[in-house]
Amino acid sequence: MKIAILGGTGHIGMGIALRIAMLGNEVIVGSRELEKANIKAREYRNILEQRGLEGDIIGMENGEAAREADISIFTIPYKYAYSTAESLRNFLRDKIVISPIVPMVKKGGFFLYDPPVEGSAAEKLASILTESKIVSALQTIPAKKFADLDAKFEWDVPVCSNDEDAKRITMKLIDRMEKLRALDAGPLVVSRLIESITPLLLNLMLQNKIKSLGVKFL
Ligand SMILES: NC(=O)c1ccc[n+]([C@@H]2O[C@H](COP(=O)([O-])OP(=O)(O)OC[C@H]3O[C@@H](n4cnc5c(N)ncnc54)[C@H](OP(=O)(O)O)[C@@H]3O)[C@@H](O)[C@H]2O)c1
Repeated sequence: MKIAILGGTGHIGMGIALRIAMLGNEVIVGSRELEKANIKAREYRNILEQRGLEGDIIGMENGEAAREADISIFTIPYKYAYSTAESLRNFLRDKIVISPIVPMVKKGGFFLYDPPVEGSAAEKLASILTESKIVSALQTIPAKKFADLDAKFEWDVPVCSNDEDAKRITMKLIDRMEKLRALDAGPLVVSRLIESITPLLLNLMLQNKIKSLGVKFL
């Protein structure tokens, strides 16, 4: 399966690219700039090579990546994700699109959830990519720890979608990643609840001076 990480050159994109490539999937690192995508893809391949692992990771411009891939993951900040989605609409038709996007603002030293009128980032993405299968997942994964392949953690990943097949495929992919457990959270409307956990985690980290909090439901 070919999986594109759109904006995969950034913080969360790195861990997702590495860990999906480790499963034997073809990974395409997407970027606005082909050169940047190629540099990052090489960097990710080197990280895996140093551990004696092979990674099928290549770089492409976002449009090409979306066109080539079976599944696209939108690792782009919410301010730019929606306009990027509009420009990639034709390439993403009938395909699974995973949204880890969290719209939030910092006010008075605290992070607050700042959803669009559609209710959540994933629902806004669904309103733009009307012919794609939108799945909401991965919002509560802290980027730095996830990119560290020696890090110890055990996290749950709530997954929601209106498309049951797309949700099942996404959950299977997440479950295959070491130390992650995918949990079915229901339809896409639930994304507003999942997305709002991230600013809470960030506030807990800041207030309690803890690094890289994730979630585990017990
Ligand atoms: N950081 C986390 O811990 C974390 C965890 C879970 C979910 N998320 C979510 O994942 C998404 C990415 O977060 P991040 O922290 O990885 O972001 P980031 O590192 O700040 O940015 C990711 C990529 O977005 C692309 N980008 C930046 N400006 C853009 C623009 N104007 N138009 C199109 N693309 C642009 C860049 O790629 P190019 O320059 O190569 O195009 C950049 O490398 C966000 O929606 C965030 O809410 C983040």
